[in-house]
Amino acid sequence: MRVLSGVQPSGILHIGNYFGAIRQFVKLQADHQCFYFLADLHALTTVHDPDRMRGLVRDLATGFLAFGLDPDRSVVYRQSDVPEVSELAWYLSTATSMGLLQRCHSFKDKVAQGVVPSHGLFAYPVLMAADILIVDADLVPVGRDQKQHLEVTRDIATNFHTTYGQEVFTLPEPLILDEVAVVPGVDGRKMSKSYGNTIDLFGPEKATRKRIMSIVTDSTPVEEPKPTKDNALYQLLRLFAPEPERPWVERAFREGGTGYGEMKKKLVEYFLATFGEARQRFAELSADPGEVDRVLARGAERARETVAPLMDRVRLAVGIR
Ligand code: ADP
Ligand code: TRP
Repeated sequence: MRVLSGVQPSGILHIGNYFGAIRQFVKLQADHQCFYFLADLHALTTVHDPDRMRGLVRDLATGFLAFGLDPDRSVVYRQSDVPEVSELAWYLSTATSMGLLQRCHSFKDKVAQGVVPSHGLFAYPVLMAADILIVDADLVPVGRDQKQHLEVTRDIATNFHTTYGQEVFTLPEPLILDEVAVVPGVDGRKMSKSYGNTIDLFGPEKATRKRIMSIVTDSTPVEEPKPTKDNALYQLLRLFAPEPERPWVERAFREGGTGYGEMKKKLVEYFLATFGEARQRFAELSADPGEVDRVLARGAERARETVAPLMDRVRLAVGIR
């Protein structure tokens, strides 16, 4: 099966992104032909500072590689390096009704969060459909918030087929990732850059430690058992504790005698053990930006080779060739 997914370089990578997305991307490489890209054109709907944009793209690419997305096995590229994506987005948009896009809740949600209601933001799902359809993806791993975008992608493809009387696209299926893990942030809500409650993956150790120590807990006294329900610290410890340490975590909560401070120190330890290797690799790759550039250049070349035959069929179908 052909797998495709993209992540917007619109913020620093956090542990929710790892457990909820990147970890699954890495696993899928073992059995599938995967395409993973940095959705920089999409990120332009919210990031309007060019230096920040360049930095975020580089950090996301570096993070992908540090976690083991393997450019020899998967095609790892930057969306804007494949101009055919924008071209296809235009063909699709001419066969897509306004009504279909008006029903998308992500546009309304983002506007409610204060994002400028630009035409790009409104047309976001068409560009996303182009990302997916252009590589003939069968399976698209995404968070639940993206499920509607996959439905819209299928509708856009079907409308195109009806408009031109021929089937050129593969209809993709979503693989919903948050069924695997929804990671809570330091305030107990879903970890998200828009809530400012993240624990960053590649931040300096001192800041990470401070962040983990700031996880919100209740005032249960040290000697008493601690509640586990809706307890962010408990959920994070369960996510990070290595197998032999799990019984310790359960006892610490259920038997009492262990304070939240001590548990947070353990979490720092587990965090550094879990991500130590990736953090080391991130530092090495950051010191050698040429390596990331080479990977992205090769990824773009492979992506463009892959999309060429489909783009020929699409251009023929619409009468541009
Ligand atoms: P954010 O919510 O911080 O803006 P994104 O929407 O850019 O994050 O998410 C990128 C990927 O990371 C998506 O596939 C999403 O499902 C996953 N992800 C983000 N936050 C979490 C979380 N708290 N738990 C699980 N997965 C998450
Ligand atoms: N909209 C996705 C998100 O915010 C990112 C994305 C852009 C994407 N194009 C895609 C995901 C194509 C999967 C497939 O998370």
